[in-house]
Amino acid sequence: MTLDVVIRPVKQADFNSIVPWIRKETWPANADILAIYQAQDPGGFLVAEHKQHGVIGCVTFIQLDDSTTMIGLFIVSEEHRGEGVGRLLWNEGYRRNADRALCLVASPHMASNYRSKGFTQIGTNVEEYLGFPDITKLPDVLTNEQHSYKEYSPEYFDKLLDYDTSVHIIQRKMFLEMYVNLKNSKTVVCICNDGEVLGYACLVQLDTNAYLLGPVLCETDNIACNLAIHVLKYLPKGASLAVYIEDSKTKFKDLMTQIGLERGKVYPRMETSTFMIQNPMHKMYASSTMSTVII
Ligand SMILES: CC(C)(COP(=O)(O)OP(=O)(O)OC[C@H]1O[C@@H](n2cnc3c(N)ncnc32)[C@H](O)[C@@H]1OP(=O)(O)O)[C@@H](O)C(=O)NCCC(=O)NCCS
Repeated sequence: MTLDVVIRPVKQADFNSIVPWIRKETWPANADILAIYQAQDPGGFLVAEHKQHGVIGCVTFIQLDDSTTMIGLFIVSEEHRGEGVGRLLWNEGYRRNADRALCLVASPHMASNYRSKGFTQIGTNVEEYLGFPDITKLPDVLTNEQHSYKEYSPEYFDKLLDYDTSVHIIQRKMFLEMYVNLKNSKTVVCICNDGEVLGYACLVQLDTNAYLLGPVLCETDNIACNLAIHVLKYLPKGASLAVYIEDSKTKFKDLMTQIGLERGKVYPRMETSTFMIQNPMHKMYASSTMSTVII
């Protein structure tokens, strides 16, 4: 069967079609976050456009650096699944990236499919925690550390970027800039006595009453919990919260459970080589999207 579908780079107008699919999957993205992907690698965010039905699927093959590509947001609208649209998207993304190291965070049911394509599971899984948290159950800030926790303001940007760059393999100026400036979002920064940044956490509004805690990137368990305690004070009453947590981060997960979030799906992290991706994980507590390395 020939499909009446072309694969092309995304346009901003396509976000209206894509956002409802990803919200239904409870993936942590909204139009602003899609714009971040598009800006990072405009040719790597692909959509499938059907002659009659318009945009019916997408995938991102975002080139992070000279050698590594992060795959994400692989989705086809429900009414067109099983027709080969996903394969067209995948093949086109793969064609442009065949000679590169590929990594992704897989939906659990797709893991065997990726294995058959040469991916292996690496490092930690990403666990989804969801619910309507009771913020009154947040403990007081843990320990008597000598750090302070400040609401983000532009004066912190350069130090925040230095910190972020020291952890990640890629320079994420554009992401960080867009992230800390997302509408209705809050970022809290942990600063040590000498003024150095030791981590940060973002609370992002995904939808009218739906929020995402992440990224949470910092030096220690205690700082991660304290960052969460500070930034969650900005969560509106009655709002839902999603957090995507590295499965090794027990204390942070305990805190999320304590306020009433429940564990959902477990997403295996996979890649075609063991080239990278491990590096940031020990400092990454909660990721903001499935694509931990990107955002
Ligand atoms: C995964 C998805 C994008 C595939 O798109 P599609 O148009 O339905 O898929 P196609 O019919 O073109 O098949 C594409 C490939 O995906 C595989 N696939 C599709 N659905 C699958 C499923 N539920 N479980 C395992 N493999 C699946 C097919 O076997 C095929 O593999 P192949 O190319 O190695 O032969 C689509 O089913 C979807 O949107 N699912 C919900 C979102 C999701 O889970 N995305 C994956 C994130 S890792």
